[in-house]
This record gives sequence, structure tokens and C-alpha cells, in this order.
Amino acid sequence: MLLYLSEMTTIGKIESIINNRELSKENIAFLLGLQKPYQHILHEYAGKINDEVKGNKVHFRGLIEFSNICTKDCYYCGIRKSNHNTHRYTLLHEEILNAADFAFRNGYGSVVLQSGERSDRFFVEQIDSLLQDIKKISGGKLGITLSVGEQTEETYQRWYSSGAHRYLLRIESSSCRLFERIHPQNALHMYDTRLECLQMLKRTGYQTGTGVMIGLPHQTLDDLASDILFFQLQDVDMIGMGPYIEHRDTPLFAEREHLWLLQQRFDTALNMIAVLRIVMPDINIAAATALQAIDPMGREKALLCGANIIMPNITPTENRKNYLLYRNKPNVDEGAEDTIAGLLKRIQHIGKEVAFDEWGDSQHYFNKVNNRGSSSAI
Ligand code: 5AD
Repeated sequence: MLLYLSEMTTIGKIESIINNRELSKENIAFLLGLQKPYQHILHEYAGKINDEVKGNKVHFRGLIEFSNICTKDCYYCGIRKSNHNTHRYTLLHEEILNAADFAFRNGYGSVVLQSGERSDRFFVEQIDSLLQDIKKISGGKLGITLSVGEQTEETYQRWYSSGAHRYLLRIESSSCRLFERIHPQNALHMYDTRLECLQMLKRTGYQTGTGVMIGLPHQTLDDLASDILFFQLQDVDMIGMGPYIEHRDTPLFAEREHLWLLQQRFDTALNMIAVLRIVMPDINIAAATALQAIDPMGREKALLCGANIIMPNITPTENRKNYLLYRNKPNVDEGAEDTIAGLLKRIQHIGKEVAFDEWGDSQHYFNKVNNRGSSSAI
């Protein structure tokens, strides 16, 4: 009887919190900590909101990891500059165009160009000409997201003019304390620079995405609740976030005894997606590949509790083994063709539909623009 009563109280509490979209930090932290048998209430509610706002459509972004050369030394990342156990590569211009052409011919709608971080002139120009050529080969039809880190405002503007319209730059953790724990303390790895870059991206006109890793050593549910509030405050258009997965060749590996169990990181990542869908219903949320590294059905589970974007890897197969941000990275030995056939089946299996040949832009971005328009008209 007592158990029954406490169960009723938990369910009642969850329902009263999620029916109110202005969530306090305390209530967000409570939802993020939900486990079985209560978690599904949160997930189903967020899934319903997703269906209402996005329909049951899933959009693809063909992910091209075009180079693992990186000037940064982030403590968690397998392609950090000081990891000498990785073979460095940069795809040829033609190889990147071929991957983009593959995406275009297969109706992916958009590509994401991602790489290690560089800001030298050669790199800036290489991306600029890639953008122009991808637009050319697709008759302007392929959407392009960039995910190549911190750059100057001028560079962001240049790439925007050449055809990139979305940009992903994860804050990794909105807690300055945690950010400093997972990055070297030097001018190349500054929390404030990352924030400033997000502002520049928004000013330039990009649909701007950010995100965090979930389950970092010493991270708490309170930190993650603050991340959700940070996304709201920054008014971002897109989020990509997934579980932190330790990599043997990185300094953060030494802190592995402080980690939550993988399953707990996974469950909390799903809770993060669900809560975010409730508080920011019209943004795009990616089902991160890192989810699949823990659970083979990870991305599908994310799609059912609020995510609406999948980023199939279309990097040439022989290069994928060198873009290991974390261990157990999935789809390292598959050809892109296998992935698309498999993905289609998986998505249809959960009752969703792939929206081929569409950009799948963030509605939030346009809602913001329209709101600005109407408020200035008043
Ligand atoms: N575990 C999970 N995600 C990682 N990333 C980098 N290293 C790891 C890791 N060990 C994520 C970062 C980065 C994105 C490209 O990959 O959040 O922004």
C-alpha cells in the first residue's frame, strides 16, 4: 500500500511538472534523474510533442568527417592534437564532393561537413570552395551544415555567403567549471571564446546549433539541468548531444572511476532529449551517434522521445576508423549504401518516415525571425 502511494506520488509529480513548460532548474533535474519504471512517462510525453510539432518525419544529414587533423587538445577527444596513436587524414576535394553527391543522389537533403579544428588560411579557403562546389553539383539543392569549430566572424560570414546555412558548435558543458576541467587552460580553449562564437554565428544568420556531452566525470544532474536552461537562454535552433564515452588515448580516461555506468549515461541522455523537446518544442534535435555506441537501438529510442534528426555517416569507409572520437564508435566498417538501407528499415520499423530531399530546417529559427518581424511592426 505504501509503495503504491509513493508510486502514485511520483507519477503525479512527473505529470504536474511536464504539463507546465516553464520548468524550474529543480524540476528539470528531477526529470533528468528519472529511471525505470517512471522514465517512459517522460519519454512518451516528449514523443507526443515531437509528433505534434514535427509530424513523424525524420530528416537525414549525411555526415562527412573530412579531416581528423586538429589543432586543439581537448581532454576527452580521440582526435586531439596530442594523440599520436591516430593516423591523420584529410579527404581530397573530389572525395568530399563525391560523398556530397552520394547524399544528394540518395535524397538525404543535407550534409554536415565536420572535421578537427583548424583556422589557417588554406583550411578557410578549402571549405569556401567546397561549399561553392557542393552548391554547384546539387543545383543549390543540398543543404549544408558546418561543424568545424571556432573561427573568426569574418570566416563565419564568408562561409555563410558561400552557402552554409547551419552551424554546429557544441559548448560541451555550459558549466564554466566543468568546461575548464575537460580542456587545457590556455588561449585556444576558452569558455568565453566558445560563447562569443555562438553569438557570432547567430549574428551572421546561421541556424545555430550547440550541445553537450552527458555523463562527464564530475558532472551532476544539476549541471545538466543548467545546460537545458543555457540552451533556452541562448535561444538556439538545433541541439546535438550524446553520452560521453571515454577514450583510452585521452587524458580524461584517467578519471574513469568517476563515471556513471554507461547505461546511466545513456538513460540520462534520453531524458535530456525528452526534457529539451518539452521546453523547446520547435528546435531540431539530433539523435547522436554516441547513443548507438552504447545501445544498438540508441538512435531509434532517441527518435521516439523527442529527436527528429539522424546523421548517417557517409565518410569513405577507409577513413572512418581514424575518426574515432570515442571507443566503440558504430558503423566504422560499413559502406554508406549499407547504412542507408539499414536506416530506412529501422526508421520505418518505429513508425516514422524519412523525409527525403528536404532540408528539414529548424522551425525555431523561422519562428524567431517572424516574431522579431511582428514585434518590430507593433
Ligand atoms: N565522447 C562523446 N562525445 C565526444 N565528442 C568528442 N569526444 C567525445 C567522447 N569521448 C563529441 C564532442 C564534439 C563532437 C564532435 O564529438 O561533443 O563536439
